[in-house]
Amino acid sequence: MDVAIVYESLFGNTRTIAEAIADGVKEANPAARVALLPVGDAKADQVREAGLLIVGGPTHMRGMTSGVTRRKGLEAEENTAKGKGREFRPEPGAEGPGVRDWFQALPKAPSGTLAAAFDTRAGFKLAGGAAKGIARRLRSHGYKLAVPPEGFIITDTEGPLREGEPDRARAWGADLMRQPVHS
Ligand SMILES: Cc1cc2nc3c(=O)[nH]c(=O)nc-3n(C[C@H](O)[C@H](O)[C@H](O)COP(=O)(O)O)c2cc1C
Repeated sequence: MDVAIVYESLFGNTRTIAEAIADGVKEANPAARVALLPVGDAKADQVREAGLLIVGGPTHMRGMTSGVTRRKGLEAEENTAKGKGREFRPEPGAEGPGVRDWFQALPKAPSGTLAAAFDTRAGFKLAGGAAKGIARRLRSHGYKLAVPPEGFIITDTEGPLREGEPDRARAWGADLMRQPVHS
């Protein structure tokens, strides 16, 4: 099975989760061909070939990122880094496009193609989450969600991830492959 994992990330946390999910997918199905794609490199052709599409991004303003939130976030973290005298190195492509923009150009999938959505978010109650919006867009593009949207917890805006979250992501990726729909 071809699996595409498309992710957006400003500071690397969502990338780390995407990598862990890819490890889990391969662990559960060593024969799976997994493409781990930063959203800026995720071409429609490659995504269309996947029997399972997994999409994730950071939570901004309780939902998916936008051009404005990405810019604000990068500026704020650059200033913080300057104030602390350390170098600021955002993820390549952090300025955009984000997952929200990417969906606008994504063609519809054959109805019922499997998909899953995840995000990174803060651990407090009203943090919101980008995964719900991602899941909604997947459904409106013809995809069928194999599991409910999932959030992985960061300890601060720039990270790091809460201890144990990459392991949980790996297990989530493996579980995804073990859903009855895949057997
Ligand atoms: C402008 C901005 C707004 C944010 N708003 C929220 C929010 O509403 N809820 C939340 O849980 N996290 C929020 N965060 C924190 C992000 O969830 C966090 O930066 C992200 O998960 C880190 O992932 P990344 O390293 O892949 O970018 C915000 C971050 C930025 C930069």
